[in-house]
Amino acid sequence: MFSTAFLDLPALQGASGTVTLPGSKSISNRVLLLSALCEGTTVVHDLLDSDDTRVMLAALRQLGCGVDVAGTTVTITGLGGRAWPAEAIEFFMGNAGTAMRPLTAALAVQGGDFTLKGVPRMHERPIGDLVDALRELGCAIDYLGNEGYPPLRVRQPTLRLDKPIPVRGDVSSQFLTALLMALPLAAQDRAINIEVVGELISKPYIEITLNLLARYGIAVERHGWKRFVIPAGSRYQSPGSIHVEADASSASYFIALGAIAQGDGIRIHGVGADSIQGDIRFMDAAAQMGAKITSGPNWLEIQRGAWPLKGVTLDCNHIPDAAMTLAVMALYADGPTTLRNIASWRVKETDRIAAMAIESRKLGATVEEGPDWITIHPLPTGKWQRASIHTYDDHRVAMCFSLAAFNADQVPVRIEDPKCVAKTFPDYFEALFSVATTEATHIPVICIDGPTASGKGTLASRVATQLGYHYLDSGALYRVTAHAALQAGLTLEAADERKIADLARQLPVHFEGEQVLLGGMDVTDAIRSEQGGMNASKVSVLPAVREALVQLQHSFRRLPGLLADGRDMGTVIFPNAPLKVFLTASAAQRAERRHKQLISKGFSANIDSLRADLEARDARDMSRSVAPLKPAQDALQLDNSSLTIEASVEQVMVWWQSRQVFG
Ligand code: DC
Repeated sequence: MFSTAFLDLPALQGASGTVTLPGSKSISNRVLLLSALCEGTTVVHDLLDSDDTRVMLAALRQLGCGVDVAGTTVTITGLGGRAWPAEAIEFFMGNAGTAMRPLTAALAVQGGDFTLKGVPRMHERPIGDLVDALRELGCAIDYLGNEGYPPLRVRQPTLRLDKPIPVRGDVSSQFLTALLMALPLAAQDRAINIEVVGELISKPYIEITLNLLARYGIAVERHGWKRFVIPAGSRYQSPGSIHVEADASSASYFIALGAIAQGDGIRIHGVGADSIQGDIRFMDAAAQMGAKITSGPNWLEIQRGAWPLKGVTLDCNHIPDAAMTLAVMALYADGPTTLRNIASWRVKETDRIAAMAIESRKLGATVEEGPDWITIHPLPTGKWQRASIHTYDDHRVAMCFSLAAFNADQVPVRIEDPKCVAKTFPDYFEALFSVATTEATHIPVICIDGPTASGKGTLASRVATQLGYHYLDSGALYRVTAHAALQAGLTLEAADERKIADLARQLPVHFEGEQVLLGGMDVTDAIRSEQGGMNASKVSVLPAVREALVQLQHSFRRLPGLLADGRDMGTVIFPNAPLKVFLTASAAQRAERRHKQLISKGFSANIDSLRADLEARDARDMSRSVAPLKPAQDALQLDNSSLTIEASVEQVMVWWQSRQVFG
């Protein structure tokens, strides 16, 4: 996840490949409980890993369900046809409403001796309407704290199922969902009627419940939104295996991406056209604007169709969340787009009509808005402006405007507070970067070159963290090359130059945080020693070795940007980098820092001999014939002898910001 203050998206051009979207929370927990109530085994694919699902899984284990977790695939062996536990069980539900409500209902209908508790906040979330409905049908439930709130104690019920069971629909649709999922347990010999009191809210979520029940063999009869009948003889049947759908609103960004970006198209795994989520109808709107969409079980494929996209006028009441994505697609259309019947945008995470209008205007667009509509005019080539998009702590604003980076004027887009996407899609930008493409020259590189122990590694990796960029420690590549050469029985001299270069070209090196792996083996300590540095310096004078490492170094230039440190980043490897820093510090300072570093790692070291080594290494690095250590002509010099690391980071950030002006 990007937790930086802002994320700069370079101009993006194409997109190709596959994205797998995270599973929907509301579907995940329903599927887990239904699988637990079945007889036999259900393999659940693509389960969302979140606090709420972990709470549910723990509870199911306590009940004696088989729970086997392998990544996002979870195998549940249900309780159907087996005896439920007779001993008293206490369940901890955390703050997971989607686990607490349906589980309470299932436990109460089945009966036993169960206590359900949660975090303090859970004990402030009302459950009285559900308890009332369950008591009405004979369940034995006591409040252990405040009346109407968890914690609860559940005992053996005396079920009375002859009259309709009333449940309020205007507080939370989860109460009705809970009853619909629990009552089939009691419907062996009679039909069960549920009657909704008050206007039912969040109907699409009840549709999800009904749909999932149908997949588990329970065909609920729905009479309007007032009465629901669970037929006599209903029995849970495992579907064998089931996929948890991805969140359909999250899919909208990648559907739009496929419609906007050049390339071989985007394949979305996790949700298909037959999704049970209302927001999937976004695909019809996107198709109307020009997207070419095909679909199969649990997948969608999107390609650019009409280009430019077609401006449309649409009633978006049925897809309020996903419709925001249409507003950004509208910038790429051949005429204005009007989205109507979107009054609810005004009362979401932020006033979304105002937010979309203000931020689109920053990009240069003409936008009109009314109480429940917005009209966005396309932005022709030549008119796009660099903008810093404010995101209002609204995940959807952030995700929508990332799509503006595909503009024909190739201007970059800054997204403020990118971590707000965590609400529904923590790895959204990672997913975007995994399929988005652009010319390498658009991907910014900041080079930090300098002599050994000048602090470039620390500086570069700190700046990389602040910007959310990748980091290349090119010295480590020379160190690993020397290590691999010695292991292969080679000398580090010119006589073995070809052989070392061959090794370097195929170097199976892998960085994991601070760790450096060579062919899967951790070589961090081996290469970080003083000897490792000397050895690196030796192989680095061999022209064929340097040449062999060029491609590998270039491959680190990935979206959204790169911090590269070394000796020749600015002069040879990334000569067009938009910012080059040449970092120096006095030899005395560097020797002292190196000394501290070694001592802290438990190595013994002597300052004077360290300094002599540093100077010898500098001399070799500066005097070699290829890519000698020297500042690039356009490099900014930074002597950090008397600067803290924070001050150095600040200086580089100031230089970088002054070159990245966003309106
Ligand atoms: O940055 P470092 O101390 O890890 O580098 C080890 C050696 O590798 C250094 O003495 C010279 C060589 N090197 C190089 O020649 N070019 C680079 N870009 C990085 C390192």
